[in-house]
Amino acid sequence: MAVELSFSGQYAVLTLNRPEALNALRFSMLEEIARVADTIAASPARALIVTGAGPKAFCAGADIKELMGRDILAQRRGAELGQNAFARLAALSIPSVAVIHGYAFGGGLELAMACTFRIATPQAKMGLPEIKLGLIPGYGGTQRLPRLVGEARAKALVMSGRTIDAREAEHIGLVNEIVEGDDPVALGQAYLAQFTAFSKCASLFAREAVERALATPLAEGLRIESDLSTLAYQTHDANEGMRAFVEKRTPEFKDA
Ligand code: HXC
Repeated sequence: MAVELSFSGQYAVLTLNRPEALNALRFSMLEEIARVADTIAASPARALIVTGAGPKAFCAGADIKELMGRDILAQRRGAELGQNAFARLAALSIPSVAVIHGYAFGGGLELAMACTFRIATPQAKMGLPEIKLGLIPGYGGTQRLPRLVGEARAKALVMSGRTIDAREAEHIGLVNEIVEGDDPVALGQAYLAQFTAFSKCASLFAREAVERALATPLAEGLRIESDLSTLAYQTHDANEGMRAFVEKRTPEFKDA
């Protein structure tokens, strides 16, 4: 399978496995990603690592050979397929990290941007080069990039197709952290460990509240924050967390 799902302890691992084509995304792989997202949602995994097989690439984007010669309606269906697959990953209730250890271009970077976090090795290179093909990003890139790096930087990257390295990506906030190592799964696990010790409920509400900040006017966002904060307050885990603090012990969260 060109999209593989495995589990390692509390982590789900989605691997793009087409290294001979730098893990370029065929349409069938987008369908597989959507299916895999549903499997992950039904699993007890506490976090997701997304990575690409082989030493050279996370993912070099949509498969250009497959994109060629399609009629306009087929192309629109393709864009919707990619958007839907990545939206399903983004909507998972557990945090996810894309481990970018080589190239992440076009649809590959769009996949990484659908994850909660992105980490990159020092040699990673990324960009949205679609403009060089006479195209524009179609799997969410024009919408997620400005939310991550701001409108001016997003326009510059999308309209130039420029490749940036890991350092620049970290500087503009596209990548959360630069990490060193050869094993993407181990790197992902080490990064995600800082998020998985807490209540799943609080973690999800925190993420949702922050995500709403960019999608709503301030007054509405503040209302959502107070609603989610009140909801968190009513969980078993909030009761346990506050009680454990007062009793000077480690809390035992139940994700409830
Ligand atoms: C199909 C691809 C591919 C791609 C690489 N390959 N990228 N095949 N689609 N996106 C294949 C090559 O054809 C080659 O196969 C093999 O992978 C190795 O690639 P090389 O080019 O020989 O490697 P290298 O010289 O190291 O260059 C790496 C690279 C380059 C810089 C990443 O491959 C590249 O520029 N790729 C295209 C990147 C890109 O433009 N992505 C955006 C696509 S559009 P063979 O058989 O020749 O050995 C997109 C959004 C579309 O993602 C959204 C529309 C709705």
